[in-house]
Amino acid sequence: MTNHTQGALAGAPASPEPVPAGLGNALVEEDWDALTFRVHRSAYRSQSVFDREKEEIWGHTWLYLGHETEVPNPGDFKTRTLGGRPLIFCRDAAGEIQVFLNACTHRGTILCRHNEGNTKFFQCFYHAWVFSNSGELAALPGDDAYPAGEEFRAAMRLRTVPRVQSHEGFVFIAFDPDVPDLLTHLGQAAHYMSLTANIGPQGMQTLPGVQLYSVKGNWKLAVENAMDGYHFAPTHNTFVGYLRESGFAVTDDDQYAYDLGSGHGLLVLTGHNGRIGMVWEPRFGEAEKARTVEKRQEMVDRLGAERAAEIADASRILYVFPNLLLFDLEALTIRQLEPVGPGHTDVRAWQFVEVGEPQEVRELRIRTMVSFVGPGGLATPDDIEAYEAVQRGIEATANAADPRHDWSDMSRGMGNEKAGNQGRSIDEGAMRSFWRHWADRVGDPAGPATGAEPDAAAERR
Ligand code: FES
Ligand SMILES: [Fe+2]
Repeated sequence: MTNHTQGALAGAPASPEPVPAGLGNALVEEDWDALTFRVHRSAYRSQSVFDREKEEIWGHTWLYLGHETEVPNPGDFKTRTLGGRPLIFCRDAAGEIQVFLNACTHRGTILCRHNEGNTKFFQCFYHAWVFSNSGELAALPGDDAYPAGEEFRAAMRLRTVPRVQSHEGFVFIAFDPDVPDLLTHLGQAAHYMSLTANIGPQGMQTLPGVQLYSVKGNWKLAVENAMDGYHFAPTHNTFVGYLRESGFAVTDDDQYAYDLGSGHGLLVLTGHNGRIGMVWEPRFGEAEKARTVEKRQEMVDRLGAERAAEIADASRILYVFPNLLLFDLEALTIRQLEPVGPGHTDVRAWQFVEVGEPQEVRELRIRTMVSFVGPGGLATPDDIEAYEAVQRGIEATANAADPRHDWSDMSRGMGNEKAGNQGRSIDEGAMRSFWRHWADRVGDPAGPATGAEPDAAAERR
């Protein structure tokens, strides 16, 4: 048995290199002779695994925070939680992006209790300390009781996160000051983010408003689901039927999966369905058909034929380890995962649009997003039902009399991969590369946790 090969692409010839036993191997097993890959189900339900992830993954790598266009004006702010830590994401009076821990430096109270807004100052409700949107302690009641001079105030500035960097307007943070540069972390994923960021001639922006929903499932099930073309036809059969009725045939042919390294993954889907302004389909309407021709020409003129084709021809689902999913499909959606507990994940999603596009295109985008990847669309409720159902089933095999029953299988397509063929989106290669990276990072907290896991069970209730 060998473990954890790390190919550049999912379809690269598989010549599995044995790696030292130990790190993570106990929960993720692959066998290139038997062509099997399996994940121990405690990885989805154990509190100790969750705690280890929080430390080893969320504490030590770049996390997607938000897009710069969410805070377009000085004073704009959003609050959100990453890796369990509450944050303020804002643009200060000078127009600079700032990211603070959302905790008062006096005694730790959550400082800003709004989801979003615009302000020059954040005032703590507890003892009324006031901080500017660039982090200075601007005022505190009864300040004559504190040391005179600037030193005390300077020491009580809002705490920033150690690292903040952005790529194409996508802002990432890290709680570990020593992580490699963002572009190093993103690796090949940076290129695919750039493709999406270059769709609009005037750039791209998030639409105001966020879709926030909670899922009773482990965050890794959301990653698997996004990298899983195998489920598309059976799970979304209503949507597939609707596409067929509207005159657009979907196919699994020419659809591939790529391992982008560092846990990042990519599905490239040419036969999925339309792309607004780029690949027309009947339900987009006749007016959009003519615009698609113009838009394609605009892209060729601006970017050259080759890059325009790379951006426009195929739909893509990009996963940036650990918490960003970029759906560049019929509608463009940014999705962020925030693990709350082993069996509980918060999801935020934003619609990503071209700056300055005509109103009718904007409306088509929103209608299309709502019909498929939106939380009430024809796809996302199916997916959420799938990963909540998986989580329930995973709980069911804990403490199974036969320990072989407590593993999930992800072997699909290993023979094809071993033969040196490009991995297909309907195989499970993109999941395997994710899990290899996960195992390398998380290591083996305690071996397969086949014993009782009361904390995980309690979390679900
Ligand atoms: S805890 Fe914020 S002012 Fe005291
Ligand atoms: Fe799906």
